[in-house]
Amino acid sequence: MSAHVWQGPGTHDKRSPCPALNALANYGYLKIISIKPLYFLLDLVAEKISQRVNLQECEHDASLTRKDFYFGDNHTVNPELVDLLLKQNIDGKIKEESLSKLHWIRLNNSKEVNPTLLYNFQQKFLSAGESSLLLNFIGANTNLEIEIEKLEVFLKHERFPEGWRKPNKVVGIWPIINSLCLFLKRYDQLEKEQKK
Ligand code: HEM
Repeated sequence: MSAHVWQGPGTHDKRSPCPALNALANYGYLKIISIKPLYFLLDLVAEKISQRVNLQECEHDASLTRKDFYFGDNHTVNPELVDLLLKQNIDGKIKEESLSKLHWIRLNNSKEVNPTLLYNFQQKFLSAGESSLLLNFIGANTNLEIEIEKLEVFLKHERFPEGWRKPNKVVGIWPIINSLCLFLKRYDQLEKEQKK
């Protein structure tokens, strides 16, 4: 990352709901990241590989660190939600259990306060996928665990934390799918426990 210096968004810059894409934009790896062009660009790529995916539909309620659409700004990070996530740490680290727990807290809260909550398998799947990406990229060199101090920097400031290094090995699709499935399983477990 040495040639690219972190610079937060300017007053006219917009950011996406994805912390990773925002971090890359903050280092100048992604030049255009105002929301519409970004989705347009990504839609175009998706179309090229014959998988018509509307990325605007990827934005969903009950996300980890963004408020629901019903409450207004659903793409800027909400520091209080990051703090709530960090509180779920186990021995100072955020692991699969911590992320699942926060997802569950967020979902229950949205059910209570958001009359327009949209949450079905698609949103559940996307949530699991995002948490999987987080652990597999940011926690790649640390056994799929992330120290809370590092995660706070990544999520709140959308920058790569001091001492963090990009994954030593290429992150393959299978570990990502494997973690995603573990998240889905854990969500079901939490649901079952709640119904008891
Ligand atoms: C081209 C690649 C990517 C695209 C198009 C993308 C797109 C998105 C979108 C649209 C969301 C918003 C979902 C929501 O409403 O909550 C999101 C969230 C997220 N993305 Fe990405 N993403 C990409 C790569 C990554 C990578 C590599 C990571 C690994 C760190 C990552 C981590 C996350 C996380 C943790 C969230 C959830 C944020 C939250 O719930 O607060 N993404 N991404």
